[in-house]
Amino acid sequence: MIVLFIGDIVGSTGRAALKQVLPSLKSKYQPHLIVANGENAAHGRGITAAIAREFYELGVHAITMGNHTWDNKDIFEWIDDEPRIVRPANFPPGTPGRGSTVVKANGKTLGILNLQGRTFLPPLDCPFRAADELIGKLKAQTPCILVDFHAEATSEKIAMSWYLDGRASVVVGTHTHVQTNDDRILPGGTACLTDVGMVGSRDGVLGMERSSVEYRFLTQLPSRFTVDEGKWQFHAVLAEIDDATGKAKSIAKIRLTEDEWLLMQ
Ligand SMILES: [Fe+2]
Repeated sequence: MIVLFIGDIVGSTGRAALKQVLPSLKSKYQPHLIVANGENAAHGRGITAAIAREFYELGVHAITMGNHTWDNKDIFEWIDDEPRIVRPANFPPGTPGRGSTVVKANGKTLGILNLQGRTFLPPLDCPFRAADELIGKLKAQTPCILVDFHAEATSEKIAMSWYLDGRASVVVGTHTHVQTNDDRILPGGTACLTDVGMVGSRDGVLGMERSSVEYRFLTQLPSRFTVDEGKWQFHAVLAEIDDATGKAKSIAKIRLTEDEWLLMQ
């Protein structure tokens, strides 16, 4: 199966980029399953039910989250009824929503697991032990498993890729919004990339309007960040997985800017 994973979609700029780009990526790469990180989709913080619907209508089959999962408070009202959204699995037992799910589309079945790192992020349960538990459960339903490890530290994400080598098909990182250049397949057959990168404004700071970010760095005072509305950048990863063994056959980064994309049309 071919899986397209799209990095953190940030606010209206990121959503507009998704709308523009996804139809051509679908026809070019013919992915069986499309997964996107949506934790920054609503004004850079969290997601709404309407935005999730918009993603599904564009062809996204499942949405992963992260540390901003709960920023839109109404998510508590609907996340339990939404099997296509996964929030980090290492939140304490009893947290609303689910940390893993299985999606079926185009004749393929993919297990999806979302985890959150603990380095430079609020403390949660151990993501490594959560992975041990949930990968075992997902394996009973499909050998093909994608992990979105939402974490700040490259070391923690690389350690997770090695920890899951041979058990997950794909381990990708999200959260830093900057695409790394270390895509590869580990010896056990796990494709990995430390961070997929973001979908949102190219000339802001991680998708946010830069003057408010600069103000906070310069003054150390609080400032309200707003989504930057400049030209977009789009980062994703494409992985091919052997349906029978769950081992990755290839992984490739996708990196587009609005200017390049317009020239290609
Ligand atoms: Fe994040």
